[in-house]
Amino acid sequence: MKTLVLYASSYGYAQSMAERIKAGLAGDVSCVNLNEKKLIDLSGVDTIVLGSSIYVGQIHKSMKEFIKINHDLLLKKRLVIYLCCAFEHEFENHLKNNFPMDLLDHASMIQNLGGAIDKSKLNFGHKMMVSMIEKTEAGMKPILRHEDRIEPILKYLNT
Ligand SMILES: Cc1cc2nc3c(=O)[nH]c(=O)nc-3n(C[C@H](O)[C@H](O)[C@H](O)COP(=O)(O)O)c2cc1C
Repeated sequence: MKTLVLYASSYGYAQSMAERIKAGLAGDVSCVNLNEKKLIDLSGVDTIVLGSSIYVGQIHKSMKEFIKINHDLLLKKRLVIYLCCAFEHEFENHLKNNFPMDLLDHASMIQNLGGAIDKSKLNFGHKMMVSMIEKTEAGMKPILRHEDRIEPILKYLNT
């Protein structure tokens, strides 16, 4: 049983979730950053975990491209999807706007693992956006890390 955890992350939160999933899974598991490696060989892979953070409603371009190229193959694999959404109420919309519906229907598990923003790490553009978001009702709510939601993923994939 071979598992690939494929993730896209800007400041490390989605990456840390991918690494924790890899560490908790039994068997032959690899973790790949799609922002660094575009061509992924899916032959011999039984299970795929796709994970991305969200920026202004969009998953990473690298993740979108990977899904576009591998759409038909992904429908033949056991699939788990996680997003790192700071705004939980947008989770369903983010899924629908970023993933083909057949892939969402095919996925055996989909989780929002929450989010984290360290303002000192953000680039100028993102800092400006966060200042604007913080003035909105959604932006005033605390950003929660839902790391506990990794457990059901591990439980499902390890059984
Ligand atoms: C500029 C900016 C825009 C964001 N836009 C969204 C958004 O539209 N929806 C959402 O749920 N989270 C949004 N987030 C939150 C990030 O997805 C969240 O902080 C995530 O944990 C970042 O993960 P990363 O460190 O792996 O990139 C945004 C964060 C920033 C800095």
